[in-house]
Amino acid sequence: MSEVRLDPPLELSLSLGEAMFTQRAMRRLKPDPIPESQLEILLNAASKAPNGGNMQPARFLAVRDRARVEAFGELYREAWWAKRRDEGRPWTRREDIPADSVFRMAALLADEIRHAPVVVLAFGIYPGMGHSVLPAMQNLMLAARALGIGSTLTTLHPQVMERVYALFGVPEKVEFHGCIPLGYPRGRFGPTPRLKSSETTYIDAWSQPPPW
Ligand SMILES: Cc1cc2nc3c(=O)[nH]c(=O)nc-3n(C[C@H](O)[C@H](O)[C@H](O)COP(=O)(O)O)c2cc1C
Repeated sequence: MSEVRLDPPLELSLSLGEAMFTQRAMRRLKPDPIPESQLEILLNAASKAPNGGNMQPARFLAVRDRARVEAFGELYREAWWAKRRDEGRPWTRREDIPADSVFRMAALLADEIRHAPVVVLAFGIYPGMGHSVLPAMQNLMLAARALGIGSTLTTLHPQVMERVYALFGVPEKVEFHGCIPLGYPRGRFGPTPRLKSSETTYIDAWSQPPPW
């Protein structure tokens, strides 16, 4: 296994706090290309993530080719609606979804992902190691935030997986864990609405709230 020690890129100078507290799902993306040097920084950041036993199972497929992104976009849209069907949602078109629902924006991404300049697909080369791929995906998205690049973590649906693998020539034994459309945002980063940590944290025992 190759061991590469990379110096932190100077481009990642946004404070860690600002990156973490303003990173949010950016679904409306400009079609402008992402320079290769920036893409390399994102993938280097991903490669630095913690992972089980340092087995480094994460593999990434960064799709930039327009025809392939478009073909993937079709499959992504089909997958998105298949998930809604499985959940028993009553909608069949984006316009049916209540305007204040997060699903409305997610449906927009399902329509627009084909215009993303880059879509990164994340895989694991060993079975059952999703926990070792997700930190890499988050590293990639935080690095994207630092570079002013928008991202959203998304998933697919079993209905399309065979065709996705065929489209990109992905070996059957490799496990898919998520996909991240990337692009310069049309919206603004953060702040993000989240529960207070006092509502999500216990100290020492489940019955004990934190003192803050
Ligand atoms: C496991 C996972 C799956 C997600 N799937 C989708 C998805 O299919 N489509 C989408 O638009 N956003 C998806 N998201 C993004 C979430 O909707 C988003 O992180 C959440 O609503 C918070 O949004 P915010 O960061 O803009 O506040 C997913 C996020 C995670 C972590």
